[in-house]
Amino acid sequence: MKIAIVGTGYVGLVTGTCFAEIGVHVICVDTNKAKIEALQKGHIPIYENGLEEMVSRNAKAGRLSFTTSLEECLNEVDVVFSAVGTPPDEDGSADLSYVLQVAHTIGRSLQKYVLVVTKSTVPVGTAQKVRMAISEELGKRGVDIPFDVASNPEFLKEGNAINDFMSPDRVVVGVDSERARKLMTKLYKPFLLNNFRVIFMDIPSAEMTKYAANSMLATRISFMNDIANLCELVGADVNMVRSGIGSDTRIGRKFLYPGIGYGGSCFPKDVKALIKTAEQNGYEMRVLRAVEEVNERQKGVLFDKLQKLLGKELKGKTVAMWGLSFKPETDDMREAPSLILMKRLLEAGCHIRVYDPVAMNECRRRMGDDVYYAKDLYDAALEADSLLLVTEWKEFRLPSWAVVKKLMRRPLVLDGRNIYDGAEMEELGFEYHCIGKS
Ligand SMILES: NC(=O)c1ccc[n+]([C@@H]2O[C@H](COP(=O)([O-])OP(=O)(O)OC[C@H]3O[C@@H](n4cnc5c(N)ncnc54)[C@H](O)[C@@H]3O)[C@@H](O)[C@H]2O)c1
Repeated sequence: MKIAIVGTGYVGLVTGTCFAEIGVHVICVDTNKAKIEALQKGHIPIYENGLEEMVSRNAKAGRLSFTTSLEECLNEVDVVFSAVGTPPDEDGSADLSYVLQVAHTIGRSLQKYVLVVTKSTVPVGTAQKVRMAISEELGKRGVDIPFDVASNPEFLKEGNAINDFMSPDRVVVGVDSERARKLMTKLYKPFLLNNFRVIFMDIPSAEMTKYAANSMLATRISFMNDIANLCELVGADVNMVRSGIGSDTRIGRKFLYPGIGYGGSCFPKDVKALIKTAEQNGYEMRVLRAVEEVNERQKGVLFDKLQKLLGKELKGKTVAMWGLSFKPETDDMREAPSLILMKRLLEAGCHIRVYDPVAMNECRRRMGDDVYYAKDLYDAALEADSLLLVTEWKEFRLPSWAVVKKLMRRPLVLDGRNIYDGAEMEELGFEYHCIGKS
């Protein structure tokens, strides 16, 4: 089987490489020339554990190649996956211009049957728009070439993407023709053989499933952040509350961690887009509006705590930040809470010393010379008046606190992810604050 994956970002590159790993011939397409040239030379443009080795292995085996031209490879493949970005438009709805660009290109060049699968996260009705865009181009050419559309939303998590793709909780496939169903069954056969669940459904339900899943997870996070903030006011400990409720099998333990708000390329934009879809259909998603509101407030929680602790003295203070990416194991800083934090600290006149195991270049690209890029976590702490734990990378879990304490001007630690033990930190001579415990 031969497929094309259009859009070689976090989703497209992982999807293409993983399909190649199970024996499919994959051509990855991207309009970003620099990205494709780098990939052709074996350089991976993103940080994703294990990906570089897998790309190189499959490229050498001749199952994985890269091109900037969809037109050139379109008529060699059975299936085209579209995994291009769907960023938020100004009004919060999903910007479908890249998805529709791909559909128009397909319509302009198609010579034989193809199945067009949308892997990007797109609102209900998008498959229909893709179908219309392709038909429109075929109509202009005066040809009638058969094709199908399908929806196959992606649930992988950056940082664990290969594993998530290879061992999925489930694969969701929306189809509306037998031919499409057969092709998708063939493609996902290795997963079916390994007893992973592949759930077939109609296309609108598949499109909606992705938004509902992300919105549910975002809701859990905002709910726990609300509970955490209340715990601080009433003298409860959110860590205890979390284990108390997480042990209820109806609730479960996952996504109950309070922190400094969710970020990344998915939750913020997907929650916004679902609110917008509802609005366009005359319905108000009240729960999701609150989820968003709570999240925006939570992104400011570390700054507010610091301001309370240091008061008017914040100006001129040196603040160390451990972690920049929106979560560990990725260099992705899209909508990262660290960006809001840096902005507010700079506005307050602070000097910022940052360190992240992999997101330093990404931060430099966004922040330029506004902050100091430390060599390691200890360099970040040098003469700092406070240390903020922003992303819970493994390397921050057990630092040598004696060294950190010697380096800091004031041993004040604000833990935005609740990874340290408060009593231990106080014993070590630190003033320690976390989320959800007064
Ligand atoms: N990142 C994640 O963790 C994740 C997880 C699940 C779903 N998704 C969804 O998958 C989609 C892609 O996300 P991503 O994070 O991989 O995006 P990304 O920004 O990393 O990559 C998108 C790629 O598409 C390319 N592109 C844009 N227009 C193109 C065109 N016309 N032809 C060819 N290439 C084109 C861009 O150059 C870019 O390389 C989004 O809809 C996102 O919501 C993302």
